[in-house]
Amino acid sequence: MPILFQPENQLFKLDTKTSTYAFMVHEQNYLVHLYYGPKIPDTQLKHLMYRGWYDSLSPRPRGMEDRRFSLDSIPQEYSGTSNGDFRISALEVRGQAGDTVTDLRYVGHRVFSGKPGLAMEGVTMPATFAGEGEAQTLEVETVDAVTGVKAFLLYTVFENYGAMARSVRLENAGSAPVSLERAYSLCLELPTMDYDMVHMYGRWAKENTVVRHPLQHGIQAIQSKRGMTGPNHNPFVALAREGTGEENGQAIGVNLVYSGNFSMEIEVDTLGCPRLLAGINPASFCWRLEPGQSFTTPEAVMVFSENGLGAMSRDFHRLYMDHLMTSRWAKQKRPILINDWEAAVFDFDDQLLVEFAQEAKKLGVEMLVMDDGWFGARNDDSHGLGDWRVNEDKLKGGLQSLIHRVNAAGLKFGIWYEPEMVNPDSDLYRAHPDWIIQAKGRVNSLSRNQCVLDMTREEVRDNIFQQMADVVGSHNIEYIKWDCNRNISEAGNLQLPPERQGEFFHRYVLGVYDLMGRVTQAFPHILLENCSSGGARFDAGMLYYSPQIWTSDCTDPIERLTIQFGASLCYPASSMGAHVSASSRAGFQTKGAVALMGSHGFELDPRKLTQEEKEAARAQVQEYHKYYDLTHYGDLYRLTDPAVHPFFCDWAFVSPDKNQVLFTRVVMRKPENYFQYRRLAGLDPEKFYVDQETGDRYSGALLMNVGIDLSQPWPGPEDGSSVTKYFVAE
Ligand code: DGJ
Repeated sequence: MPILFQPENQLFKLDTKTSTYAFMVHEQNYLVHLYYGPKIPDTQLKHLMYRGWYDSLSPRPRGMEDRRFSLDSIPQEYSGTSNGDFRISALEVRGQAGDTVTDLRYVGHRVFSGKPGLAMEGVTMPATFAGEGEAQTLEVETVDAVTGVKAFLLYTVFENYGAMARSVRLENAGSAPVSLERAYSLCLELPTMDYDMVHMYGRWAKENTVVRHPLQHGIQAIQSKRGMTGPNHNPFVALAREGTGEENGQAIGVNLVYSGNFSMEIEVDTLGCPRLLAGINPASFCWRLEPGQSFTTPEAVMVFSENGLGAMSRDFHRLYMDHLMTSRWAKQKRPILINDWEAAVFDFDDQLLVEFAQEAKKLGVEMLVMDDGWFGARNDDSHGLGDWRVNEDKLKGGLQSLIHRVNAAGLKFGIWYEPEMVNPDSDLYRAHPDWIIQAKGRVNSLSRNQCVLDMTREEVRDNIFQQMADVVGSHNIEYIKWDCNRNISEAGNLQLPPERQGEFFHRYVLGVYDLMGRVTQAFPHILLENCSSGGARFDAGMLYYSPQIWTSDCTDPIERLTIQFGASLCYPASSMGAHVSASSRAGFQTKGAVALMGSHGFELDPRKLTQEEKEAARAQVQEYHKYYDLTHYGDLYRLTDPAVHPFFCDWAFVSPDKNQVLFTRVVMRKPENYFQYRRLAGLDPEKFYVDQETGDRYSGALLMNVGIDLSQPWPGPEDGSSVTKYFVAE
């Protein structure tokens, strides 16, 4: 069994295929962390709690004779506040007396098969799921004696994925109200700082830029205070041992299943020991718990890899495909779509869309997505958001007629919504000006001429749900793009009392989850694609509802390489919406090759394609079908990093049985050397693979040790060109 409790050592040991995680109950019922790393057979691990003789200014608990024990240096399983540990704390509770001393002690534990769902105030929170026998869960009960607050630490072990999911349920079992000033999902202690911090930063149209730097003494953090995830930082951090590369070395990946204000921080203390916290950003958070009430943190997922960042990513990908995405479309073949946004923006009518559908059909496209601009008075971005009624001046004959004609052309039909937003110039706003997010006495800033609806309010969610249900429920709509194009400023809630304003941001996220859950449950046939000005809300919380997320508003295929490589650090390739557009930086073939790294689609005017481009598009649709299983369910190997290499970006998909390989090279810039080999990875060294174009035959060992010959005669490959090679094992 992956979870072991050994009474004689008071030791908890949680094993996955790659890792061991261990902690123990120490004297006075302190929960002391001991180990997280490659799998080990040991059960005598108590000595790992000590980190030298550190006893000068740091307090020692009363009655603790062991002079080496100070909470300031001992690794904690879930650290408290002001109890002698001066490092960043995972939990801070303000009790009735007004102080924030928080000191958790072990009470008991239970182990069970499967995994419980997470919920807050009746809202199901996105989290990994597992039935009986698919995973094992440990729940450890701890208590703070003075406030009576109990913390239940939850660990679910996904043994075959090298993964653990963690969250904390806090219950006020005391007799007075308390405030949670911080409540992280995960605390992870490590004994040495010889790790690099790997994470993604970005901005609009340039998401997921991967950065890597050595840990340093002090606090290093990535955060959001935008109310949403944002493109600036993704809630993902990997700790890679010095020297860890794509396919070698140890890496720990931590990802938060959350779409709101988050914080992932690492403090390296004076002894050189890192503590990592992941959870809701305490900067904008304070939650009041009355006696008997409880609070469940979002979930954090950890993956341990001994074979580099690549193996870490692949375990995240498989875990999320199998145990996070709830949509039937996670494992069901998705239609290849064309979206009208980049080609038409707001300037379209029914006739244009029907022409798009008819032309796209000739290319083999299977679905037309009508983006922004179909509703209310929405002819630019300053009107109509919130009025989800079809604009019949634009779509003459109405939506029914349009969908009928699109379907008659042989295409399915998808539609765009931005459910959380409202333009002040809209009927919804005029009827309910108080429904927007507002802080008392403050004037709202506008962004893209819109305000954010207060999703904490049930009547707001009901209204938007009903408006969506009226359209989706009465038309043959098979896809929704759920957009979100501004962040939250002047945050406040006129209904919450002053002492509960700190709950607003988290309640907003819960409201969004509630609405998204209602929509996906009411219309389970819908393929939901999330979007937030591109990939500003590309997170595991959203993946729970939508198996595919629009990765970026940047559709330039060369720029997309770093954006998609970055996203793939944690999120499955199949979840990355990737479209071929009219952008001019590379040829049509390369655009298709890059789109095939994710969920391929088109975002252009199909009537304007040249004959040659039409043929290329038709070929791409065929490739989409031919390689669908490989690109959607295969393993992704990032071979040459476009952020680092001056000329190339290379990647390959390998089928789980290692019988098929789809290799792609994009030439970002003409190389100075025409003699080029590229080694592959992830193949079976003993199998022989046949190049399906040339018939050449190579062993997996040769392809992984010498590689494929990609040399070209003078003048060599052009900037923006690409090569795709498909190998099948004999
Ligand atoms: C931002 C999205 O990222 C785009 O794809 C498009 O849907 C626009 N919003 C529409 O307003």
